[in-house]
Amino acid sequence: MSERWTPESWRSKPVLQVPDYPDAKALADVEAQLATFPPLVFAGEARNLKKALGRVAAGEAFLLQGGDCAESFAEHGANNIRDFFRVLLQMAVVLTYAGAVPVVKVGRIAGQFAKPRSSPTEKVGGVELPSYRGDIVNDIAFTKEARVPDPQRQLMAYRQSAATLNLLRAFATGGYANLGSVHEWMLGFLKDSPQSRRYKELADRISDALNFMRACGLDLESHPELRATDFYTSHEALLLGYEQAMTRIDSTTGDWYATSGHMIWIGDRTRQLDHGHIEYFRGIKNPIGLKCGPSLKPDELLKLIDVLNPDNEPGRLTLIGRFGSDKVGEHLPNMIRAVKREGRVVVWSCDPMHGNTITSTSGYKTRPFDRILSEVKSFFAIHAAEGTHAGGVHLEMTGQDVTECLGGARAITDEDLNDRYHTVCDPRLNAEQSIDMAFLVAELLKQERAGKARPMPVAAGL
Ligand code: TRP
Ligand code: MN
Repeated sequence: MSERWTPESWRSKPVLQVPDYPDAKALADVEAQLATFPPLVFAGEARNLKKALGRVAAGEAFLLQGGDCAESFAEHGANNIRDFFRVLLQMAVVLTYAGAVPVVKVGRIAGQFAKPRSSPTEKVGGVELPSYRGDIVNDIAFTKEARVPDPQRQLMAYRQSAATLNLLRAFATGGYANLGSVHEWMLGFLKDSPQSRRYKELADRISDALNFMRACGLDLESHPELRATDFYTSHEALLLGYEQAMTRIDSTTGDWYATSGHMIWIGDRTRQLDHGHIEYFRGIKNPIGLKCGPSLKPDELLKLIDVLNPDNEPGRLTLIGRFGSDKVGEHLPNMIRAVKREGRVVVWSCDPMHGNTITSTSGYKTRPFDRILSEVKSFFAIHAAEGTHAGGVHLEMTGQDVTECLGGARAITDEDLNDRYHTVCDPRLNAEQSIDMAFLVAELLKQERAGKARPMPVAAGL
């Protein structure tokens, strides 16, 4: 691994999950064109996120990362982006207020297009076709033509990411994210749900706090931190040709950065030490994530950390566990102990979605809210017992009122799944379930802080 790194050095290694493009020349042309396009994000922004994540690693902040399993070309629109951003803000405000910690906000958005698949082909009613690999690669329609990987789609994905990011930047800094608007974020949200009542009470308390400070003579308008928020983008950097084309030298430091998003992560299926994905990631300076599933052994994890974060830089590496509610207790403690023993600084985050996918009786791919919550609770309990910080959550969620995950406060049933099952990939938490989750996580964060305040911490069991 000590060989020289270049943005294309991954090409000499084995790479999994590569689409089978029929026309190599067409692919190379698209990649050459992408390489001339403006970056989507700046190195300075990626460094700011790394700093913020460094505070998470130190136990002083919490990471909220969420969004679609996969973005789609068909659903690209302002309402979708606004609804997602609004729910994420609502969750962030719940966590910031009730959990009393700064929240680092990172969307799975503006680039989350490529999907790893467990099988290269898919069979429906006796017909076998190449698997759908995300809109950046091929089309979801189940026809032979639709499933042929088309490099032109990378240009579409780039332009959609740019437009999405443009709107998100406007929302984050142009007034929409003003803390004084906590009540307005309710508009369009289901008013009769238990969450909306709870959320309204919390919004009232925030308004009271702001009014109190104003009455004390504080000029709130002169504080930009109340009017704007830092919002970052992230995606799984699976399609290395696209990522290479978007890799640029930062002129101020001379370092290489992935400019396709602020943070990118490595999937659980493509984290082999001697493969192309690890090779690509080791050379870029962005904050990065590593998905950790049940098959990752602690000593293998340490080797990966050596390669991905040799300088032990805080905020560089976020370990995103995705074990499943029934397996997290078996795997996470050993990982934490190994990382602690070696003195490695990481952000510990919990993806409670991917280890808890089941097929419902009626045949839908779904996730029971109770299992999702159970993995989050175990994650907090394990960190309390190990004396480490439960640093964040990584969720698949949408601002829409879909019916994809079972349960939650409105108790979505197997029969309900059929109503509004819209995902092009994995089942997502809907707006209500997401806010529900935020209140529950805020409780857990409060407990973590209360535990620290005690002179003799009581080890929490599972
Ligand atoms: N700037 C602070 C932050 O991002 C406070 C803030 C402003 C905020 N608007 C927000 C927090 C919206 C959550 C949601 O944390
Ligand atoms: Mn997914």
